[in-house]
Amino acid sequence: MDLLGQVGDTLTPQDPADRLSNLRIELLPIDLIVQWRRCSKMADFLASYFEYHFESRVVAAQVLSTGLNELIENLAKFSADKQRPVSVEISHFGEVITFETQNEARRAEVAALRARLTRMATTDPEELFLEQLEHTASRDRAASGLGLINLKKDYGARLSAEIRAVPDDPERFHVTLQLALEVDAVERG
Ligand SMILES: Nc1ncnc2c1ncn2[C@@H]1O[C@H](COP(=O)(O)OP(=O)(O)OP(=O)(O)O)[C@@H](O)[C@H]1O
Ligand SMILES: [Mg+2]
Repeated sequence: MDLLGQVGDTLTPQDPADRLSNLRIELLPIDLIVQWRRCSKMADFLASYFEYHFESRVVAAQVLSTGLNELIENLAKFSADKQRPVSVEISHFGEVITFETQNEARRAEVAALRARLTRMATTDPEELFLEQLEHTASRDRAASGLGLINLKKDYGARLSAEIRAVPDDPERFHVTLQLALEVDAVERG
């Protein structure tokens, strides 16, 4: 299977000139691994920075934090080199808010991500949720494998990834994951 290229939902291209707000942070996965609470602290901080755009600030902060926490935990868990910087960027475009993460990951994780996003782009999230629930229960795994599916099921998030080769290392790939949320869904919770 070819791992390179774009996979997942087709996201409407946004012009950076239309951004109402933008924030990008870079961090080392190792810091999250040694203090796992930093994932949720970072997600809460970023969510509270953006909550002022929303009428229902409490609801919006909760939704944004849930989405960011999921992506930040994935950066910690699936980055190949825990001492190599990863990034999270949040952009608010008025109708849509986007999260973009960048990291490097090993072949097995990238293949799993690709398979998951391919499935998610064509299958009803409720159905995938039940399917994954059964899968996890039958294998008794610690991770539920429901993180990304839940963001689609609960908030209608659209997800897409761009996979690029890392020069001189055929076992590693550069992952840019994009998640788009309609502002209405963020307000509704
Ligand atoms: N940033 C990433 N880089 C590389 N692979 C990723 C990344 N994010 C997700 N993946 C891959 O996609 C799979 C699905 O991610 P998802 O967040 O839905 O589940 P999970 O993290 O395994 O479990 P849970 O989120 O329920 O704890 C992961 O198991 C991993 O293999
Ligand atoms: Mg996850």
